[in-house]
Amino acid sequence: MKFFIDTANIDQIRQAHEMGILDGVTTNPSLMAKEGVKGKEQIFNHYKTICSIVDGPVSAEVFATDYEGMIREGEELAAIDPKITVKLPCTKDGIRAVKYFSSKNVATNCTLVFSVGQALLAAKAGATFVSPFVGRLDDISEDGVALISHIVNVFNCYGFQTQVLAASIRHTNHIIRCLDAGADVATCPLSAIEGLLKHPLTDKGLDTFVKDAAKMQ
Ligand code: E4P
Repeated sequence: MKFFIDTANIDQIRQAHEMGILDGVTTNPSLMAKEGVKGKEQIFNHYKTICSIVDGPVSAEVFATDYEGMIREGEELAAIDPKITVKLPCTKDGIRAVKYFSSKNVATNCTLVFSVGQALLAAKAGATFVSPFVGRLDDISEDGVALISHIVNVFNCYGFQTQVLAASIRHTNHIIRCLDAGADVATCPLSAIEGLLKHPLTDKGLDTFVKDAAKMQ
């Protein structure tokens, strides 16, 4: 399973990259706004900086909600760097835009996916990634990870090449459960990635080793 970091924060992207486990980055308008970037020039420069740090795909989301606007913005975003994946909402116009970009061999991430039907349309339009939102489904008492399993099964059954990118991951247990469900990618906050490292027996064992090592110096 690939690991993307779900942030537009440069410091956190660098930290995940330096761990050597980072395969890509996802952003959205809310994550970009959190970093205080404003206006096209700052936004594009921010994406350039992110692309200069990571080796893999960087999802950049369009702000437009109409087809023409999505095409115009998507083309501008894709021109920033070959690592840019154009992120498009799972709406009627968004699916049309996914089809447009996939026919031009521009990578796409179809976002705001909450059902297997939406994922199917994104795959049929040729999306590179489809992003079901695990945490937001859990927030309304639905089972986000069950949706990941359902989409993975359908895609495997029909041979769709679209990668299932588990999004809206809130904690470490989501990552492990999405791994079991067969997600191709999990996009996670840095805290959830670091949570994978935590084990009390590791801390206890290391403490003993450090003390014993000191006895020999
Ligand atoms: C990433 O692609 C999504 O936009 C993001 O994971 C949404 O996460 P949230 O539900 O925590 O805002």
